Amino acid sequence: MTKSKYHPASIFLHWLVFILVIAAFITIELKSQFPKGSELRELCKSIHGVFGQLIFLAMILRLAIRNIYGVPEPTNPIPLFTRLAKAMHYLLYALLLISPIFGILYFQYAGKEIHFFGLVWPQFVTPNPEMKKTVEGIHEFLGNSLYFLIGIHALAGLWQHYILKDDSLRRMLNKSKSLA
Ligand code: HEM
Ligand code: HEM
Repeated sequence: MTKSKYHPASIFLHWLVFILVIAAFITIELKSQFPKGSELRELCKSIHGVFGQLIFLAMILRLAIRNIYGVPEPTNPIPLFTRLAKAMHYLLYALLLISPIFGILYFQYAGKEIHFFGLVWPQFVTPNPEMKKTVEGIHEFLGNSLYFLIGIHALAGLWQHYILKDDSLRRMLNKSKSLA
């Protein structure tokens, strides 16, 4: 369903995920400040994991709102850029949903419990050091690709706002001038 405005919940979740991604980034970068096997290093990984799970939940919610309510088409005077923006949005959705799954698998292949506000996830896989290494590599690759793509996406948003002076960023801030 196509609209001319984002649903306020979509806007809220967009900026919430933005903050959560920064928090996930900071906690996992902080990890390397502490020696291997130390409690603080493990704590950083666990907190990173909680932010990652929150990102997953927020993205599921966002997808549901998008399906029920719809979203506006990206705008750009160059049709190729409109298609690129659409592709970028799908890619971001995909990575924000897939990266946390690999994070969860990483913990489980390492034989560690995953906590989420007092709840413990059921074990989906049997601990396996070989698989842990593979899944760790995939998770890191997905996470780093995500940071890179988000950088391009944010620059594109700023370019549309300050250079093209269109409505895209205002739409994502609920300050759009268009009706409906
Ligand atoms: C963690 C960081 C971010 C993520 C994961 C992210 C993800 C997304 C996604 C998936 C959409 C598509 C919305 C939808 O169709 O449901 C979107 C739209 C948008 N984002 Fe972001 N975003 C991030 C940060 C930013 C930042 C920092 C800016 C500011 C420049 C920004 C500006 C926009 C704009 C303007 C749109 C609407 C584009 C349009 O209407 O065509 N985003 N974002
Ligand atoms: C969208 C969400 C997520 C992003 C963007 C993300 C990103 C990353 C990145 C980039 C790294 C590598 C950091 C480095 O060592 O340089 C990493 C490591 C890690 N992630 Fe995530 N992650 C997410 C979700 C999760 C979730 C949900 C979990 C688990 C529940 C998780 C668990 C881990 C763990 C344990 C590591 C450390 C691996 C190690 O070096 O020992 N992540 N994450």
